[in-house]
Amino acid sequence: MKPRQITQDVQWMGAVDWNRRLFDSLIPLPDGTSYNAYLVRGSEKTALLDTVDPAMWDVLLHQLDGIEKIDYIVSHHTEQDHAGSIPTVLEMYPMATLVCSPKAKALLMDHLNLDETRIKTVEDGETIALGNKTLRFIHTPWVHWPETMVTFLPEDRILFSCDFFGSHLATTDLFVGDNPYIAEAAKRYYAEIMMPFRSTIRNNMKKVRACEFDLIAPSHGPVYDNPEMILSAYEDWISDAVTNTVVLPYISMHGSTEIMVNYLTAALAERGVKVHKFDLSVTDIGKLAMSLVDAATIVIGTPTVHVGPHPIVFSATHLANALRPKLKHAAIIGSYGWGTKAVEQLTSLIPNLKVEVLGAVLCKGLPKSDTLAELDALADTIRDKHLLLAKPPVCAS
Ligand code: FEO
Repeated sequence: MKPRQITQDVQWMGAVDWNRRLFDSLIPLPDGTSYNAYLVRGSEKTALLDTVDPAMWDVLLHQLDGIEKIDYIVSHHTEQDHAGSIPTVLEMYPMATLVCSPKAKALLMDHLNLDETRIKTVEDGETIALGNKTLRFIHTPWVHWPETMVTFLPEDRILFSCDFFGSHLATTDLFVGDNPYIAEAAKRYYAEIMMPFRSTIRNNMKKVRACEFDLIAPSHGPVYDNPEMILSAYEDWISDAVTNTVVLPYISMHGSTEIMVNYLTAALAERGVKVHKFDLSVTDIGKLAMSLVDAATIVIGTPTVHVGPHPIVFSATHLANALRPKLKHAAIIGSYGWGTKAVEQLTSLIPNLKVEVLGAVLCKGLPKSDTLAELDALADTIRDKHLLLAKPPVCAS
């Protein structure tokens, strides 16, 4: 892909990674991703905002062909998918200064072995003049590392947000336009990357809202030409509001737990509660994370393996705890062969979830009528708890 014009003096550069299917050796990428860099030309100086993943450095190299001078390279975030090619760009442009937040300086030196003398740190709100353009740096910590910042270009009314507001989406579309799929891609991205920092993001949102811009140019996915769409979505996700929804991840080894899961799913649906059911043996964990963004309740279904929960359930529960969704309630259901400590072990895995535990329904072997009655009672409890919540189920995701 060649550089693409965003405004007269701002170009998109970067690489669209159509074939990448896994990020951080953890996160599925059903639709690939992109690593966006941006070139801003002022009347006196030129700045490159971020770079690309080193695996696709050759793409950026071709795009820089003919750019004789870069005065500043801005690093919004140290993670290698954006900063990994900075050492090569610094070599290509020996007069360029690397600009970053104070917290980023040590990180960039640690991760990329950079020469300290090439780095200039900028304080929150500080500006750098490019002649007729101004780069204003806004510290936005924990989206999603401690050093992250964004850049506001007031003359062109563009906010360069790096990971903040990003989406893992490979596309030839430069702008979001009316692509309805972006809402799902951005929500997936938020769930996997940003959700653990929900409360910190609230402060960052206020800082971002104070700027007046027409475009948000993230470092993954297309440029938002209707920023209000993603801003209001973020404000919803980071709020305390939850929906009348149960997320039900489970594993079943011989079918007993699955009977319970199916029974509870039907019982909840009869009571007007939406359910997202995930068989963890075949689940895309990104979908699971996305469902946790605004659900009120998680019900974990597990058989017992060597006294504890199934290892795949153990792993998914640990992930849910790390993502810190705004769940209000939790419960555990499942079947065991001869004995179990699954409830105790699962409960100890979720200290970050500020949930009311609504109880556990366990049965030895096949679920019988008393177990099904307990599941009906659990469904009643969940319905009643959700009736206290104001917000109806939303979203197609
Ligand atoms: Fe897109 Fe945190 O890197």
